[in-house]
Amino acid sequence: MDRLEQIKLPVYNEFEVFKQMFDDSLQSSNPLLSEVMTYVKQRKGKMMRPILTLLVAKCFGQIAESTYHAAISLELLHTASLIHDDVVDESDKRRGRASVNALYDNKVSVLVGDYLLATSLKHSALTGRLSLVDLVSCLGQNLSEGEVIQLTNTGASDFSESVYFDVIKKKTAALFAAAAKAGALSVHSSDEMAEKAYLFGEMIGIAFQIKDDIFDYFSSDEIGKPTGNDMQEGKLTLPALYVLNTLQDDAMRQLALKIRSLEANNDEIAAFVQWVKENQGIEYASKVMVEYRDKALLLLSEDMPLDLRTALEVYVDFVIEREK
Ligand code: IPE
Ligand code: IPE
Ligand code: MG
Ligand code: MG
Repeated sequence: MDRLEQIKLPVYNEFEVFKQMFDDSLQSSNPLLSEVMTYVKQRKGKMMRPILTLLVAKCFGQIAESTYHAAISLELLHTASLIHDDVVDESDKRRGRASVNALYDNKVSVLVGDYLLATSLKHSALTGRLSLVDLVSCLGQNLSEGEVIQLTNTGASDFSESVYFDVIKKKTAALFAAAAKAGALSVHSSDEMAEKAYLFGEMIGIAFQIKDDIFDYFSSDEIGKPTGNDMQEGKLTLPALYVLNTLQDDAMRQLALKIRSLEANNDEIAAFVQWVKENQGIEYASKVMVEYRDKALLLLSEDMPLDLRTALEVYVDFVIEREK
């Protein structure tokens, strides 16, 4: 049994229900929308966020209709954000296949992403809970804001980690945080538990994005999306920021600024990547990632049902050890 199967075990039946409802949500009477959605359905992701929603909900109570709608809403928002992200990043591969922008074009991607976003909001309304509608709406704002900060930061001249963490909290961790909190809210947990769930998801999400940023330094067929893209887009992530701040190497700082302003050529980027790797950039980022894993684990309580607690522990480990 692989790790993801093990994680899903305590919510096996509920996950089957979720998958069916998620597929049913991807529908339109319009031929083009319907065609693209069939494509999206064929190539689903790991579904990390709905799994988290289901596990947290089951920790605190009985999975309800609103739990499913919240999970669908968040997975749709995630899917929409990836379709838009591949336009912004000019990326041609997603989940091991052509991205929507590569297969169709940017216009289709923008419109399909909007349609999925609207469908996400519809499912948040179907929960019948204003707190869940509010959660999804605030999340949508956070995701966009994170992407905008990242976009405008390519012109910045400082290499502080604080902007990096602000970006990843908003563009990635907010989604995991909302997924965990939605699970709690959907089964009427206390406010205190819902906040604890939010924090748990946030710690997981930060670790998840650091892992993703480490992936970008290596090539692998397994990941299912291009690597080496971040610097091509002018993005400096944690491994690079760390080495830039510890070594204070003027030539490399100039090169880093050149990368940010999209003026560096491939050879220069390759030399910079090698410099980051040779100077413990990856080791440092991994260490920080493990710290966030540990912060997440500390939030798990002894009172949780054992099978769910174990699944959540494996979930947290999977986030930092995953190969895709
Ligand atoms: C990709 O998330 C976007 C990031 C936050 C890095 P996932 O790796 O969970 O994507 P899928 O849904 O499994 O493809
Ligand atoms: C993460 O952004 C995806 C979103 C939060 C929309 P990235 O651009 O860093 O992620 P990948 O590598 O394309 O999945
Ligand atoms: Mg991006
Ligand atoms: Mg991207």
